[in-house]
Amino acid sequence: MSSVPEILSTVVERALGAPALIRPCADTKFGDYQANGIMAVAKQRKENPRALAEKIIPQLDLADICEPPTVAGAGFINFKLKPAFVASQLTGEPVPQVANPKTIVIDFSSPNVAKPMHVGHIRSTILGDCLARIGRFLGHRVITDNHIGDWGTQFGMLIVGWKKHRNDAALVADPITELERLYKFVNEHGDRDEAKTELVKLQQGDAENLAIWQKIIELSQHEFAKTYQRLGVTFDHTLGESFYNPQLPGVVADLRQRGIATESEGAICIFVPGSEAPLIIQKADGAFLYGTTDLATLKYRLDHWQPDEIIYVTDARQKQHFQQVFAAGKQWLSSVPDLRHVYFGSILGEDGKPLKTREGTPVKLAQLLDEAEERAFKFVTETKPDLPEATRREIARAVGIGAVKYADLSQNRTTDYIFSWAKMLAMTGNTAPYMQYAYVRVQSIFRKAGNPAVLGHIELTHPAELDLAKHILRFAETLDAVLADDKPNWLTSYLYELAGKFSAFYDSCPVLQTPEPTRSSRLALCRRTADVMKQGLNLLGIEVIEQM
Ligand code: ARG
Repeated sequence: MSSVPEILSTVVERALGAPALIRPCADTKFGDYQANGIMAVAKQRKENPRALAEKIIPQLDLADICEPPTVAGAGFINFKLKPAFVASQLTGEPVPQVANPKTIVIDFSSPNVAKPMHVGHIRSTILGDCLARIGRFLGHRVITDNHIGDWGTQFGMLIVGWKKHRNDAALVADPITELERLYKFVNEHGDRDEAKTELVKLQQGDAENLAIWQKIIELSQHEFAKTYQRLGVTFDHTLGESFYNPQLPGVVADLRQRGIATESEGAICIFVPGSEAPLIIQKADGAFLYGTTDLATLKYRLDHWQPDEIIYVTDARQKQHFQQVFAAGKQWLSSVPDLRHVYFGSILGEDGKPLKTREGTPVKLAQLLDEAEERAFKFVTETKPDLPEATRREIARAVGIGAVKYADLSQNRTTDYIFSWAKMLAMTGNTAPYMQYAYVRVQSIFRKAGNPAVLGHIELTHPAELDLAKHILRFAETLDAVLADDKPNWLTSYLYELAGKFSAFYDSCPVLQTPEPTRSSRLALCRRTADVMKQGLNLLGIEVIEQM
């Protein structure tokens, strides 16, 4: 089974003899979908575009699918789906598997060891996880890789701090806070040369320093794992920066030998077109850099996974870095796949400045999730005081974490957004609680009906039924659009509209009080709505609940 745009484009392409782009109509008064691309073909063939559209319409074998197509504007063709076709599609597989699965590597989350994950990492974690879920759901082979920052000059300071200033009790109670304190302490009060000496020892493989380094990574990973568990996020691989260390000298040597990297002022650099500053891959003192690791990582991924696409999810400040890495990678390696930097803006406080705690420190992710759950718990306790506390906690967890994720995913990722508890936890508007409640409402219909409603025959007669049903069919194309642009906000908008169309349907079309066969047909429509809501939220990484 194919999505509606796929069905239409196959038919139009056959008649046109060229690719046709099918888009939803901006105004549904004129149709549901529109074929674009006719004008381009007409221009090539030196024909009048409207005349070309008129000419191909009789060749379109679409009688079972839509009303007679019409020519629109300067040379578009509009299609209005037939209710019987829409109804028949509803009972099929809701989302087809892609015909040509791709291998997609997603590099996301990637926090730095010995530092708390802050709100910037939340966007990477939530966005990357959502793209991975959707990719897999559509049938792609998705490989997720957490490229943690587990190597670098900070380890000189950390090792000095560990050896001389460590507080073991604090390390047990809250390891990352203690590690962060050690780093700051040595950075402010410590001896720089001592830190440098410890770093060099670590780089040369000193056993004691290696053991400390490993311990620091372990402690950090353990804390990260707690956050991932709360967010329901998993990775196929966690190959941190240090994993590539042994490969770096070889990478630099190869790049030099091929003439891609050259020496400039003592450093080894790659000059890439379109960027003034070069990508430095080795400093004059011999140290390798972030970009060196990224080139080694790229080669490793190509050699081991043969991906068709690699997606890097980080904040927008790393734009230039990735531009340079991608350009250098293309000069260096053959058959480089589609490399995309999926960047995002900052999360701002209500004052429009980067989100900070009252004390002025960056907000830590774990605290943010705690507060989200606490606020949701208060809300659930107000609305459902009679539920046992454990149940209220369970609901609060799904609502609180869901609200944080949804707030993030519903933004156009490329812009900054203002973090607002009131907005993200609101029961109205484009929020997780609203969507979760919409799902609960549909579920309550099945409860009253006394059965979960099966997907039987559907008959679409009322305009609100047809409107809802057509929107349900758009689920598949919405997911395609999300992956095409790496923008999950297409999916949140889709779901929000779905909830709105369901309300409109439910307001004007009685379900349980209607005689058969309409009753069963409408129940089936409710069933399909609930399934898509649940699946859609699941792809955002958000749980549904049965009551709230
Ligand atoms: N650790 C980096 C940071 O926190 C992100 C790493 C992103 N991935 C990559 N391959 N460079 O900014």
